[in-house]
Amino acid sequence: MKVLVVGSGGREHALAWKIKQNPQLEQLYCAPGNAGTAQLAQNVPIDVEDIDGLLDFVVSQQIDLTVVGPEGPLVAGIVDRFQQQGLRAAGPSREASRLEGSKAFAKDFMKRHAIPTSGYQVFDQFETAETTLKHDAFQFPVVLKADGLAAGKGVFICPDLATSLEALDCIMQERKFGASGDRLVIEEFLEGEETSFMVFSDGVNTLPMVPSQDHKAIYEGDQGPNTGGMGAYSIDAILSEELRRKVLDEIIYPTIKGMAEEGNPYQGILYAGLMMTREGPKVLEFNVRFGDPETQVILPRMESDLLDLLYAMAEGNLENLDIRWNQNAAVCVVLAAKGYPGSYEKGQEISGLDMAGEDENTIAFHAGTTLKNGKTVTNGGRVLGITSVAPTLQPAIMRAYEGVNKIHFEGMYCRRDIASKGLKRN
Ligand code: AMP
Ligand code: GLY
Repeated sequence: MKVLVVGSGGREHALAWKIKQNPQLEQLYCAPGNAGTAQLAQNVPIDVEDIDGLLDFVVSQQIDLTVVGPEGPLVAGIVDRFQQQGLRAAGPSREASRLEGSKAFAKDFMKRHAIPTSGYQVFDQFETAETTLKHDAFQFPVVLKADGLAAGKGVFICPDLATSLEALDCIMQERKFGASGDRLVIEEFLEGEETSFMVFSDGVNTLPMVPSQDHKAIYEGDQGPNTGGMGAYSIDAILSEELRRKVLDEIIYPTIKGMAEEGNPYQGILYAGLMMTREGPKVLEFNVRFGDPETQVILPRMESDLLDLLYAMAEGNLENLDIRWNQNAAVCVVLAAKGYPGSYEKGQEISGLDMAGEDENTIAFHAGTTLKNGKTVTNGGRVLGITSVAPTLQPAIMRAYEGVNKIHFEGMYCRRDIASKGLKRN
């Protein structure tokens, strides 16, 4: 089988690493990939948003399955375009991708299907939103969200009226997120621990993955601005059996069923970002793809073959499959460039990758890296995700940081408290 992975992050390196383990794999490509995927796959220099370019490549190379990592091409309809040409792509359709592509769509959908989430209001007009905020219609803190894609940056948690008006200005007047600021969702602030829960769905059947937890804030103790994710861990104890059942029964199954009933069957990876509130799990957001860096800690725990699952998902054939998991703990620590999530430099040489990879229980997943004159250099804000497994969480954390300590590049930054929240759970 010939497979193309679309994307260039740590998630895509992890997908390539796991897909590579399938014995039927003939050829693996990654577009555009990074210095890590280059060791496993043939990188092809096509941008993830260049659907025509990807389509031409897949036709010319007779690729059997395209696995789409990021949300951009999914929301733009890459899977529909491929299907129109008789090509197989793993991921939801353009209509189904609105669960991530439009916060207002996702909220209204959850309301229609009584899926637990925070209270909210949608605004198309700046003036109406401003008046509503000023007239105490909301209790502070409130959360303001640009409606469309904003690379995880269009969400503002506002402790008071002044900050909420600033956020409103930024989204709808300054239009910092472009057309994503045409609409605004204002929602109730939820308190609790966040959990990431992903499933495979073929439109009817679902196969759950093990739970994980991301660390979105840049600084230790979850302080500072949000990032794409500074690290993650996965242990079963993140969700008790009872809560897992509740998430499936109250959130996942009603979502898959509701999408099918509305004529948009959901065939792809569904990611529910959950807040475990005192009233039970509530949805913060849906993503229509694998999480990053969650994928880096989920896949090392998967004993089943990923490519078989993705292929069956794209074919609508998950009914008789199951997924086997190991009981290991997995931890991923993200190494970021100085200045991230603000502006940062690229092109810093990375040393120590060989040493970090010497431990068979540690993998250095690449994210923003590239090869330059035979050297691996930084090429993005999140540079590497050092990922370790061990039978329990504490040694997995220690191993991951042992790996981290072997790596060096100018301005390298990481949080030193990744997964420490998880120690309380054991
Ligand atoms: P989202 O992209 O909608 O998941 O929002 C990004 C992050 O903002 C989430 O992972 C949470 O940390 C935070 N967040 C979003 N919505 C809420 C909410 N209603 N209450 C509290 N925190 C939230
Ligand atoms: N880790 C959050 C995301 O993938 O959106």
